[in-house]
Amino acid sequence: PPSRASADALLSWYDRHARRLPWRTPPGGPAPDPYAVWLSEVMLQQTTVAAVIPYYERFLSRWPTVSDLAAAPQDDVLTEWAGLGYYARARNLHKCAKVVADEHGGVFPDTEDGLRALPGIGAYTAAAVAAIAFGQPATVVDGNVERVMARLFAVTEPLPDSKADLKRLAATLTPRKRAGDYAQAVMDLGATVCTPRSPSCLGCPWQEPCAAQSEGIQDQLPKKRRK
Ligand code: ADE
Repeated sequence: PPSRASADALLSWYDRHARRLPWRTPPGGPAPDPYAVWLSEVMLQQTTVAAVIPYYERFLSRWPTVSDLAAAPQDDVLTEWAGLGYYARARNLHKCAKVVADEHGGVFPDTEDGLRALPGIGAYTAAAVAAIAFGQPATVVDGNVERVMARLFAVTEPLPDSKADLKRLAATLTPRKRAGDYAQAVMDLGATVCTPRSPSCLGCPWQEPCAAQSEGIQDQLPKKRRK
């Protein structure tokens, strides 16, 4: 069954298989810039990695710090965002940058609660920035992580009813060290191995503890409640 040791197995897989993405530092390396992490996580909500990369690069070169972004006219930010969709995200992005610049001296808060208090930062983004930029043992749960956890623990209750259970189960594995690498390792596992259809269980570092794989039901999870 899954245990704390499962986190170590995943981290050593990540050391070999981490996707090199522009907002990341190498596995085991220094934490990345909180501004870069926050910007990428906001862009990655509802938008694919491939689509985000060029936008991320343009934002970071035009506005290298959160204070630069805060000082930009809102219209410039919205124009640079064009094509990413969900314009409310861009307005919130700019609003959040201004609060960090004006009320926090351009320094992002380093805790989940502190981050959560900023405009436009919800539970997901707060946990992601706390873990990835600040090494806090926050549990980061998005749709990919829910799928991985539903399989690892063979949760047969359908989504979204199972959301709270999946988060609680995910939290049992979150390590106190390398929290940022661990969060991104689960994301990479979901994106490249534990895929929605035809997961590649032979290459999975969690093959042995995976309850769904041992029951042969990985293709049927997560179940979704009929609407
Ligand atoms: N999706 C959301 N956050 C991500 C990250 N940090 N790396 C890869 N994919 C992601």
